[in-house]
Amino acid sequence: MKTLGILISGRGSNMEAILDAIDDGRIPARVGLVISNVVAARGLERARARGVEAIALDHHGHTREEHDRRMRDELDRRDVEIVCLAGYMRLLSSFFIESYPNRILNIHPSLLPSFPGLHTHRQALAAGVKLHGCTVHVVTPSLDNGPIVIQAAVPVMAEDTEESLAERVLQAEHRIYPQAVQWFMEDRVEFLPGDVVRIRGSGVSTDCVVSPRDRNP
Ligand code: GRF
Repeated sequence: MKTLGILISGRGSNMEAILDAIDDGRIPARVGLVISNVVAARGLERARARGVEAIALDHHGHTREEHDRRMRDELDRRDVEIVCLAGYMRLLSSFFIESYPNRILNIHPSLLPSFPGLHTHRQALAAGVKLHGCTVHVVTPSLDNGPIVIQAAVPVMAEDTEESLAERVLQAEHRIYPQAVQWFMEDRVEFLPGDVVRIRGSGVSTDCVVSPRDRNP
């Protein structure tokens, strides 16, 4: 069974979605370590409450690469093979990214390549798009631009605020992130030329449309 590491900076709801999927047998893996760069991150307690080792490594006073080397040392000590960024709000050094080639996943709250960076829901409302969503992608040195594994689309409602849209997208995040991790753990992810990902044994890899109705089936 493979060992995952999860990096967080905040509340850790995507981390919990992954832990839920492990607990109910969808993801054949264990989480060896959760690391937060924010000492007060709520996700640290949430992880510990579920019996998962979770530590804070404060990035202040360290260069990006020093901090990332400390993270890698801790992950190596637990034999972590795949790293999931779950609301980890810091750029990674190329040292760290190259340590895990095609083995770092990130969840981004937009339908990439639209709206990279921060404040994605604000960007979507300002652009007037009628569909918004989220993306799980493989992390490469180019920000929010790695190979796309799965996406989920949600409708944008006329009355939406940043908060209501964020909440709808978050429900979709919790659905697709565990799915992507499951595919990685099952060794079903294939990298094709041109940064294209194909999932072996699945006709589709970017196929998940979530409507508000799905929230209360
Ligand atoms: C999520 O919206 C994720 O897409 C973004 O940051 C948020 C983290 O939420 N990168 P949580 O910590 O997983 O609850």
